[in-house]
Parts: sequence; structure tokens; C-alpha cells
Amino acid sequence: MDRKNVAWILMLLPVVGLGVVETTEPLTDLENIAGKLVFYQMEGNATYVRDTELASDVPTEIMFELFDPQKNFSTAKFSYTWDLGNGEVIQGTEPVVRYHYTQSGNYTLRLNIGVNVTKHSPAITDVYSTDVQVLDAIKNIELKGPTDYEVSQNTSLAFHVDGSPPMWVCWRFLANCVPDVTVSCTLTMLYANTLRLNHTFTSAGVHCLDISIRNDVSKMQTSFSLYVRRNNNTHLIFILSCAAILVATFSFITVIACRPRHHNRSQIGTSSNAIFLKNQDAERQSAIILNFSPLERGEKQPLLLQHGTQYCS
Ligand SMILES: *[C@@H]1O[C@H](CO)[C@@H](O)[C@H](O)[C@H]1NC(C)=O
Ligand SMILES: *[C@@H]1O[C@H](CO)[C@@H](O)[C@H](O)[C@H]1NC(C)=O
Ligand SMILES: *[C@@H]1O[C@H](CO)[C@@H](O)[C@H](O)[C@H]1NC(C)=O
Ligand SMILES: *[C@@H]1O[C@H](CO)[C@@H](O)[C@H](O)[C@H]1NC(C)=O
Ligand SMILES: *[C@@H]1O[C@H](CO)[C@@H](O)[C@H](O)[C@H]1NC(C)=O
Ligand SMILES: *[C@@H]1O[C@H](CO)[C@@H](O)[C@H](O)[C@H]1NC(C)=O
Repeated sequence: MDRKNVAWILMLLPVVGLGVVETTEPLTDLENIAGKLVFYQMEGNATYVRDTELASDVPTEIMFELFDPQKNFSTAKFSYTWDLGNGEVIQGTEPVVRYHYTQSGNYTLRLNIGVNVTKHSPAITDVYSTDVQVLDAIKNIELKGPTDYEVSQNTSLAFHVDGSPPMWVCWRFLANCVPDVTVSCTLTMLYANTLRLNHTFTSAGVHCLDISIRNDVSKMQTSFSLYVRRNNNTHLIFILSCAAILVATFSFITVIACRPRHHNRSQIGTSSNAIFLKNQDAERQSAIILNFSPLERGEKQPLLLQHGTQYCS
């Protein structure tokens, strides 16, 4: 949109003195050919006026706009030689050349103009030259990794962006993909084709990442939705807690079993009955409540696998 407006403004301004290149001496008799080079690029149905930055692989017209209010050249014959700076030379009698650069880079464009005002007068020649910078438009933003996201973990997301740097990037995360006008985007400059964003997700669920990237010739906006899991550490805590409980139970059994016995010597030992309750409500950590109840022999089945008997000597 910006480009389009600029384009219209440029088109509406008088031709005089606008971005005239290199040879801009005042007009003296018929020695100079006054004018300027103008670049147009077509994208879809839109036509953009470019300064000296062009997008690669986009239909382009380079036009020489003659400044001749007194119509001194109205009957003259013109010849144009376009040296595009990449080895291509195109000759013609029209003040326009249709050509597009396929490779990004810096080129020096030189235009030789020859005019035969009358059949007998010597030809007038002039040279216009300008540096053009050809940039690749941004056409794709690809998430390279990681593929897996967890709550409260520093995540560095890597993207491949296929336009010519430098690029301006603005990005924001939206929890649950809920549009939020209070969340503004974070602006960063990108000087390469890899973008790294660092983020710590604060809640589980689906998050949206909006990215808008532009360079001097193009703009692209996209959104990624990322599924964020609960932190794996809860599992680790659970495993560790279980291990701790097993150790505790085992010691408990040992203590019980090793108590001095007063009764029947034929009694093999004592077993214990423990019930584990895992409190799942807590989001980050899982509290584990361990209930021991005295085993009444013959009344209940032991709940734990490793209930056991132990001899002491
Ligand atoms: C055009 O011709 C007139 C005289 O006929 C002259 O004064 C003027 O400078 C010329 N313009 C150019 C651009 O040479
Ligand atoms: C371009 O114009 C044609 C007809 O004039 C229309 O069918 C097409 O949708 C337009 N494309 C865009 C991108 O506006
Ligand atoms: C201009 O005249 C020269 C000879 O003086 C001729 O070689 C050349 O082809 C002419 N150019 C045009 C555009 O007529
Ligand atoms: C082209 O020129 C600009 C400055 O005009 C410079 O910043 C850029 O690096 C150059 N690009 C290449 C590919 O040399
Ligand atoms: C995550 O980033 C914060 C600040 O950005 C830092 O304080 C913290 O140590 C980092 N944690 C890890 C595990 O890298
Ligand atoms: C993210 O962190 C990496 C290093 O871990 C750093 O190179 C990069 O610039 C950071 N990205 C942003 C947008 O801060």
C-alpha cells in the first residue's frame, strides 16, 4: 500500500528535477538530451515506481522520460543502447526497455542515447548511468525448529526467510491465539536469512506467533500456531518422588520387620500396607501424599507390590 501511494505521488509530481541522474547540466541549445530514467515494476495488476531498488524476477520497465517542453526533438530520430550492467546490452529506438534482473545484486545501468535532429546535422549523444540495487522479494517464511514446545522453557525458534536482507521484522506471541490489541509486536532487524526468536511460553495450549517482515521491495505477513505442552519436569518430579517413596517404604518395612518380637517365633515377619496418593491438581509440581495404615492381617490385600517379609538375625 505504501509503495502504491508513493508511486502515485511520484507519478503526479512534475517531471522536472525529479531524481535526475548523473548528467543534469542545464539545457543548452541542442547539446544535451534532458530527461531521466524511471523504473516501473508490475506485481499482479499493480505497477510500482521504484527508485533504484528493484525486486528480482518481477516484470520491469526501464523508461527514459525526455524533457522537451519546446518540442525541439519532435521530429528527431532517437536510438537507445541499454547496458544493463550484467553483460546484457539491448538496443532499440523506443525510450523503454522491458527486462528483469533474475539475480539480486548491485548493477550499474548505462543508457546511451543518440539523436539525429535532422538528416544532415551531426548526431547528439548523451549517457545516463545509475546504480541499481536488485533485491529478492520475501516470498516465504519457514519455521525450521524446534518442533516441540514446553511451558517455562527458553525456546529459540529458528526461521528461514528467503528475501534479501536487511529486513525489518516485527513479531508477537498470542496465548491461545486470542487477538489482543494491547500486545504490540517486537521489532528487530535481520541482516541474514535466518531469524532467531527467543521466547518463554508461560502457559500450555495453542499459541500464535504473528510475524511481519519487510525489505525495501516487499512485505510478508504470516502466522504460526504452536502447541505448547506442559513442562516435562513434572514427570521427572513424579519419577523422583516415586523413587523416594519406594525407598521410604522399604525402610519402613525394614524397621517394622526388625522390631523385637515377643510372640510366636514361627511368625515370619510383618508386612505393611501403604497407599499412594498423587495430587494432580497442582500445575507445576505434584505433591505426593503417602498414607500408611497398619495392616490388619487377613483383612486386606496389600496394595503395594513390594510389601514383603524380612528376617532379622
Ligand atoms: C529548443 O530550441 C530553442 C530555440 O529554438 C532553444 O532556445 C532551446 O534552448 C532549445 N531547447 C533545448 C532543450 O535544447
Ligand atoms: C487483475 O485484474 C483482473 C482483471 O482485470 C482480475 O480478474 C484479477 O483478479 C486482478 N488480480 C488482482 C491480483 O487484483
Ligand atoms: C543518425 O545518423 C547517423 C549518421 O550520421 C546514422 O548512422 C544513425 O543510424 C542515425 N541514427 C538514427 C537513430 O537515425
Ligand atoms: C549494494 O550496495 C549497497 C549500498 O549501496 C550495499 O549496502 C550492499 O551491500 C550492496 N550489495 C551487494 C550485494 O554488494
Ligand atoms: C531463560 O532466559 C532467562 C532470561 O531471558 C534467563 O534468566 C534464564 O536463566 C534462562 N534459562 C535457561 C534455562 O536458559
Ligand atoms: C535469541 O538468542 C540468540 C542466542 O541464543 C541470539 O543470537 C538472537 O539474537 C536472539 N534473538 C532475539 C530476537 O533476541
